[in-house]
Amino acid sequence: MKLLSAKHISHTFEYELFNDVSLELDEKETIAIIGMSGSGKSTLLHILSTLLKSDSGKVSLFGEESEMLSKKRLSQIKRDDLGLVFQSHYLFKGFSAYENLEVASILSNKKIDETLLQRLKIDACINQKVTELSGGQQQRVSIARVLTKQPRIIFADEPTGNLDKQTASEVMELLFEYCENKNAGMLLVTHDETLAYLCKKVYRLENKKLEQVK
Ligand SMILES: Nc1ncnc2c1ncn2[C@@H]1O[C@H](COP(=O)(O)OP(=O)(O)O)[C@@H](O)[C@H]1O
Ligand SMILES: [Mg+2]
Repeated sequence: MKLLSAKHISHTFEYELFNDVSLELDEKETIAIIGMSGSGKSTLLHILSTLLKSDSGKVSLFGEESEMLSKKRLSQIKRDDLGLVFQSHYLFKGFSAYENLEVASILSNKKIDETLLQRLKIDACINQKVTELSGGQQQRVSIARVLTKQPRIIFADEPTGNLDKQTASEVMELLFEYCENKNAGMLLVTHDETLAYLCKKVYRLENKKLEQVK
């Protein structure tokens, strides 16, 4: 079964960002989307994760067309099956990093995987308040939070943007392993071509079209 299928997606803000974009994501598949700043990568990820409605085209999740789903079913899918690592979906600021994971754990009824904390190198700072953490630490706590709920699809917008090269590739490795072990898929937006090419497929958003380059 396809985890996600998008067909003929077009979207315009002040100017047309892209048209007739189609894409499919399978289990255990990782896809990177690259492209220049302003090309519409984040907008496309918002559309694919159903946060934003496209001007035309359709997005299906787990074989169900998102527009046809009841509000209740769609929120259930978002809560249980979609994991968003977006800058705008930031952590609960008044809480500690660990409390943020606990919230995810309670909402999804899944245990916190303590080995994640070591893998993401956040075990030492896990009891600090989110506001005391560096941007890179917050990014890794966000990733731990998303993995805690064990989604079927991870949508990640520049998830390693604040990390050094070494840490970024370790985080990517963790995300790849997660997709492999949990039959999940990942859609990753990045400007880092080296990281992008670690994914199974790579698409470039350019001249309003999405073109597969790997
Ligand atoms: N909610 C919005 N309302 C109006 N314009 C937007 C909105 N979101 C993004 N844009 C515009 O769409 C263009 C593409 O933005 P974005 O998708 O963030 O590109 P990228 O992630 O590739 O840098 C930019 O010109 C941006 O200003
Ligand atoms: Mg962006």
